[in-house]
Order: sequence, then structure tokens, then C-alpha cells
Amino acid sequence: MRIIKAKDYEDMSKKAANIIASQVIMKPGAVLGLATGSTPIGTYKQLIKKYNNGDLDFSQVTTVNLDEYKGLAKDHDQSYYYFMHQNLFDHINIKPERTFLPDGTQADSDNACADYDRIIAEVGGVDLQLLGIGHNGHIGFNEPGSVFEKDTHCVDLTEKTIQANKRFFASADDVPKQAYTMGIRTIMMARKILLVASGEEKAEIIKEAFFGPVTPAVQASILQLRKHVILVADEAALSQVK
Ligand code: PGA
Repeated sequence: MRIIKAKDYEDMSKKAANIIASQVIMKPGAVLGLATGSTPIGTYKQLIKKYNNGDLDFSQVTTVNLDEYKGLAKDHDQSYYYFMHQNLFDHINIKPERTFLPDGTQADSDNACADYDRIIAEVGGVDLQLLGIGHNGHIGFNEPGSVFEKDTHCVDLTEKTIQANKRFFASADDVPKQAYTMGIRTIMMARKILLVASGEEKAEIIKEAFFGPVTPAVQASILQLRKHVILVADEAALSQVK
């Protein structure tokens, strides 16, 4: 694992974007695994800037996102489909048909998850997976549990996650209770993994995930088993790491 310490959120975003940009430059047809949440927004802004400057070309890139709420229409402003279009896809020259997310509108969970695993296999797996981390250590929507779920699956969101995400909805009751998420095997099979974290409120979980025991109770802790993991975090998020 490599830890890259950034000064603040802006610096974290620039450093993360540089890593993603170099992946795309080295392999123009790269498959990028992408994440939602507030942390990667700055990274996406930096990628858009590089595209606008003529420094990055996404025309051959494929993307697969980590997760999607079950039951939200694509045009719902809290769907991850909508998020990705607002924050990245609509501002770069990526081909919309090369961007994939689990289909939250598919009511049959087994089919939705099997379809998504098929897509990931067909595109050849993920070259670089971008991850955020939840306060409970989740990556994607792989919530704390007794096992590491391997493949794409339907999860019941924990109360902690619902509480953390209710700020985006009218109330906690409006937060979907389930989501489809890429599994831990798929994440671990990515050829490179880049996790971004910012702020004091992530300091405790960063310490636990990267320096505590490897346990499904802290799903991100499995990343310790990977050599090619880059953690880009700001000083506040690293404040509990010696
Ligand atoms: P955040 O979410 O970036 O909004 O903190 C991270 C996550 O829940 O994975």
C-alpha cells in the first residue's frame, strides 16, 4: 500500500485526478471503476479541467460504477446514474454507451446483479478502481457484516449509512433501503485501487481500515491484502495515523 498525504481536500482531489489521468494516458482504452459520494466530486472536477485543457481524452474509456440505489429511476436527482452524469459524464467526451452502473430500476435483484457481473466481465475487469470510504468502513455499499460478499449483490443499507445519506433526501424515510453494489472480489480484482478520503470525520475509520485487523466488520480492511492500493488522503483524514 502507498499512502499519499495531501494538504487538504483540493490537494487530495488534484493528486487523485493525476493518478486517474496517468492511467488514461498510459491506456486510452482503460476501464475505470468509479465511485459516488461527496469525496470524489473534487477529483471529477479536476478530470473535467484536464479534459477542457486538452490534456485528457476519454473517447476510448469505459467506466463501471460501484453501486446504485435500488428503486430510483435514472432521472431521480439522487440516483447514482444522475450523479455521474452531473458530476462527470456530461462534461467530458466519454461515450455514454461505455458508462455502466448497476440498473437500480430492475426490480429482480438476482437478474440485476448477474447482468452487472456479466458487464464487468465483458469489459475485461477494472484497470483502476476509485473508492471512497464510509464512516463504517464500507466500500461501494459493502456494509459491515460477517462475510465479504464476492460478487454484485443487493444490500440492505445500515442505519448509519441511511443517516449519513439522508442529507441528500427530504428525510431519512426517503433514502432507499436497498442498493446494488459491486462485490469485494470484483473490487479486489481491479488491477489498481485508489481510495480517497478527506476530513477529520474519516480519521478513525482510516486508521481502523488500514492499520486494524482485516475483518468483514470493516469491509475496507481487506484492501490491506492488496499490494497496488494507493490511499490519497488529506492531513485531517490521516490525523490518527502515526
Ligand atoms: P462520502 O461517502 O464520500 O460522501 O463521505 C463515501 C462512502 O460512503 O463511500
